[in-house]
Amino acid sequence: MDHKKTSIRTTALAALVLGAVAAPAFSAPVDQATYNGFKIYKQQRCETCHGATGEGSAAFPNLLNSLKNLSKDQFKEVVLKGRNAMPPFEANKKVAEGIDDLYTYIKGRSDGTVPAGELEKPQ
Ligand code: HEC
Repeated sequence: MDHKKTSIRTTALAALVLGAVAAPAFSAPVDQATYNGFKIYKQQRCETCHGATGEGSAAFPNLLNSLKNLSKDQFKEVVLKGRNAMPPFEANKKVAEGIDDLYTYIKGRSDGTVPAGELEKPQ
């Protein structure tokens, strides 16, 4: 038996197994913008009206549907200026400064590329 060959094969197998263990299990990798948007969505209370998943309820629009129709500018307009029972957020620094990230997060939810619920902080 060629001992050298076997040991190389064993090393390769070990690397494969270790690699599989090191990879995060089933976590959706998101970029920094999406993660920031998610934090703003939660912390600035969008979720109290539009729901933790963004899907709204009888009284509040489903933002996953809304973002299939609203342009980014229309999104910014309604969030910053408000509309009817939607409060204006332009005086909220976190929202006003993070509006692009907020859009990225909700757009990702709408497109189905960002899962509902907690997101892992990007490395
Ligand atoms: C107090 C409850 C409340 C909060 C908090 C709230 N919204 Fe709204 N939002 C509403 C209501 C009600 C509407 C529907 C307004 C209307 O009828 O014109 C709405 C509408 C919207 C729309 C437009 C939807 C469409 O289809 O045109 C967007 C986008 C939106 N909200 C995003 C947000 C974001 C982002 C936040 C957090 C920064 C937020 N909302 C916080 C109640 C809320």
